[in-house]
Amino acid sequence: MKIAISGKGGVGKSTVAGTLARLYAAAGYRVLAVDADPDANLASAIGVPKDRWSEIRTISTERRLIEERTGAKVRGFGQMFKMNPDVSDIAEHYAVRHAGVDLLVLGAVPRAAGGCACAESVLLKSLVLHLVLKHDELVILDMEAGIEHLGRGTAMGVDIMLAVVEPGQRSVSTAHRVHEMARELGVRRFGVVLNKSVAPADDRRWMESEFGAAAVLGAIALDGRIAAADRSGLSLVDLGFTDLLAPFQSLQAALISVSEEKRQ
Ligand SMILES: Nc1ncnc2c1ncn2[C@@H]1O[C@H](COP(=O)(O)OP(=O)(O)O)[C@@H](O)[C@H]1O
Ligand SMILES: [Mg+2]
Repeated sequence: MKIAISGKGGVGKSTVAGTLARLYAAAGYRVLAVDADPDANLASAIGVPKDRWSEIRTISTERRLIEERTGAKVRGFGQMFKMNPDVSDIAEHYAVRHAGVDLLVLGAVPRAAGGCACAESVLLKSLVLHLVLKHDELVILDMEAGIEHLGRGTAMGVDIMLAVVEPGQRSVSTAHRVHEMARELGVRRFGVVLNKSVAPADDRRWMESEFGAAAVLGAIALDGRIAAADRSGLSLVDLGFTDLLAPFQSLQAALISVSEEKRQ
């Protein structure tokens, strides 16, 4: 199963992605968590301890790797480069493992104004495409607000686009845009998880009226313990509060049944 997690900034994408990754790993899945947000912080949501952060190598800044695989100079202009660089061994070599989760951090591709980012961009796109099409394990992508920058090929390999929404009109609008984009790109399933709700039952009804009841896969309350875990760099799974994890476990189960529906 390949799950892409998107939504407005700050809604809880990394919290949801990191917690799901840990829960699936605890359930025996082989999990590859991909931090595809340039503002990368999935490591902390997975609970990778700070003293191991230096082990994390950000793919977009691995100049030697990019040049070797694409045959082009980083920040070079007007060059020929391989459109299909070999990326098959990158996850294996660059992922950092913690609590059964393999974490791969992609990093930011500088936009064209900062110099041509062709080689970096080609490598990252090929890598994500490879991960969503070829990996047989569970892949969780912690995204920026969209996936359009990764292209149609990538979207085809994603089974479900999960938008995280907080109870506010702006975040709902972003989720509608994510839904629209996912549809245009050919992602088969779309789901919504409500987060930071102070009135989950009411807010859930609101989300169901916005997105349809079948699309609302979970509801997570606003909880000071979640923000506190973030401040101390802990995964919610390591906190050991059963009630706090329960809505994440329901979401996990809902995602599994959605992916099984697809196969029938
Ligand atoms: N349900 C929640 N209750 C309280 N704080 C939350 C909740 N979900 C997320 N947060 C906090 O909100 C902040 C942003 O969450 P994060 O997962 O980093 O969002 P994103 O990845 O979408 O930018 C973090 O400090 C996180 O701990
Ligand atoms: Mg994030």
